[in-house]
Amino acid sequence: MRREGPATSSGSYSPPVPERDANAQPLSHDSEKTMRQKSLSAGTPGFSSQVLKQIAQDLGTPTYVYSATLLKKNYRELVRGLKDVDHRIFFAMKANSNLSILKLFLKLGAGMDIVSGGELFRAQQAGALPRDVVFSGVGKTPEELADALQFGKEGIYAFNVESEEELRLLNSIACRLGQIAPVSFRFNPDVDAKTHPYISTGLKFNKFGMHRAKVLELARGIHKFPGIRVQGVSIHIGSQLLSLAPLENAFQRVKDLIGELDELLPEPLTHVDLGGGLGICYSDEVAPSVASYCGLIRQFFGPNRVNEKGRALKVMLEPGRLLAGNAGLLLSQVLYWKKSERKHFLIIDAAMNDLIRPALYHSIHAVVPIKRLSALANQTVRCDIVGPVCETGDFIARNRMMSTRLKGGDILAILSTGAYGFTMASNYNSRPRAAEVLVSGGQYSVIRNRESLADLIRNELI
Ligand code: LLP
Repeated sequence: MRREGPATSSGSYSPPVPERDANAQPLSHDSEKTMRQKSLSAGTPGFSSQVLKQIAQDLGTPTYVYSATLLKKNYRELVRGLKDVDHRIFFAMKANSNLSILKLFLKLGAGMDIVSGGELFRAQQAGALPRDVVFSGVGKTPEELADALQFGKEGIYAFNVESEEELRLLNSIACRLGQIAPVSFRFNPDVDAKTHPYISTGLKFNKFGMHRAKVLELARGIHKFPGIRVQGVSIHIGSQLLSLAPLENAFQRVKDLIGELDELLPEPLTHVDLGGGLGICYSDEVAPSVASYCGLIRQFFGPNRVNEKGRALKVMLEPGRLLAGNAGLLLSQVLYWKKSERKHFLIIDAAMNDLIRPALYHSIHAVVPIKRLSALANQTVRCDIVGPVCETGDFIARNRMMSTRLKGGDILAILSTGAYGFTMASNYNSRPRAAEVLVSGGQYSVIRNRESLADLIRNELI
C-alpha cells in the first residue's frame, strides 16, 4: 500500500511516482539539472559515515563538519605544486574563519588574507603574527587601517590598496603613527573570469581594484605619500574559476604592469599577490587541476622568471574555497516529505540561513544520505530539498532524485560546504546558527557550539 503524507520515524514515505501531467510546469526553468549523486565514500574521503552518524546523534543537526585530513591535504597539494617557487599562501579566511581552522592553517605555515577588522581580530586570536596577515577589501575604515598598522611593532605584511582614496587615508594614518605602510596596489586587469556575476571581481565595472592608468599615476606620484612603501601588486579576478584562461590573461597583464612599475617606483617590487579563485568540483564541473594552476604560476612567476633587474618576485596566493570547500559538509536531518500538486519536497532542518549558496548563486551541492546508499537507492523521486525558512528561495537543491525510502530523522550530508558555508550563515527567521565540528584521526571535536535561543537575543535591549 502506498502511503502519502508526512513521514514518521516508523516507516518510509512512498511518494507516488510522478505522473505525466499535461499542465505540469516544465522543470527547465530551474537552473539545476538532475545530477548524479556522489557517494560519501567516493566523494568525500576523510569522513567516515560512522563518525558522521555519531556526530549527528551527539550534537543534533544542522551541524557543519570539517575534515582536518582534507584541509591539510588541500594545503599541502598547493605547496607541493609550488615547491620550486618562492611563495606564501594566505588563507582567505572569509571562506571559513573558525579559530580552529585558522590555527590548523597557521600551523601548516599559511598566512591569513583578511577583509575586515573582525577578521583581523580572529587572525590575532588564532595566533597569527603581523607578518602572517594581508589585508584586502574595497572599503577599509580608518579604525581598521590603524588597527592593522599597530598590530605588533611593524604592522601587517601588506595592505592591498584598492583606490587612491584608500591610499591617501592609509598614508595619513601611517604618518600620524610614525609608520610606513607596506602596500600592494590591487590591480583590476579587466578580465572576465567567466564565473557567477556576483563573484566576478576583475572586470572594469566591478568595484574592485584600480585600472592600469590609475596604478601608474599613483606610482608616478608616490613621493607625495611618505607613509607608504609600495612593495607589490595584487589581483583577484573572481571565485570558483573553472578555466585557467582568464587567469593566464590576468597574469600576463599583471606581469606587464610590474615591469612598468619597476621603472617608476623608487624601490623595486618584492612580491606579486595572485589572489585566490581556483574553482572546485561541486557536482559535475571539471575544475583545473592544482598541478596545472601551479604550472601556470610557474610559467609567469616561477624561479627562472626574473624581471629586468634580475630578480624573481615572491608569489603570494589567497585561496579560500580551494583549501576548505571540499573539506567540509553540513549534516542535516529529514523532517518530512511534502507533496504539492506539482512537486515533491523533501523538507530538512538546514535552510538558507545555514547555507545560502544555493539561494544566492544557484550553486549545486551534492546531498547524500548517511545511511548506506545501497539500501536507499532502489526507488527515487525527483524533488526539491528545502528548508523551513519562509521564502521560496529557501532551497538546498532542486530537481534532485532522492530515495523515496528516506524518512523523518534520516541524516543527510550536504557536501562541499567547507567554504562560504558557516561564514555566510545568519539568524534569519530567528534560527540559531549551526554547531561546527572538526574531525581528526577518527575523533571529532566541537569547534563551535550550536547557538542557543538565549544567544539570539543576547545583544538586544528592552
Ligand atoms: N582574495 C580576495 C581578495 C577575495 O575577494 C577572495 C574571495 C579570495 C581571495 C578567495 O577566493 P576563493 O579562493 O575562495 O575563490 N561567497 C562566494 C564566494 C565569494 C568570494 C569572495 N572573494 C561563494 O560562496 O561562492
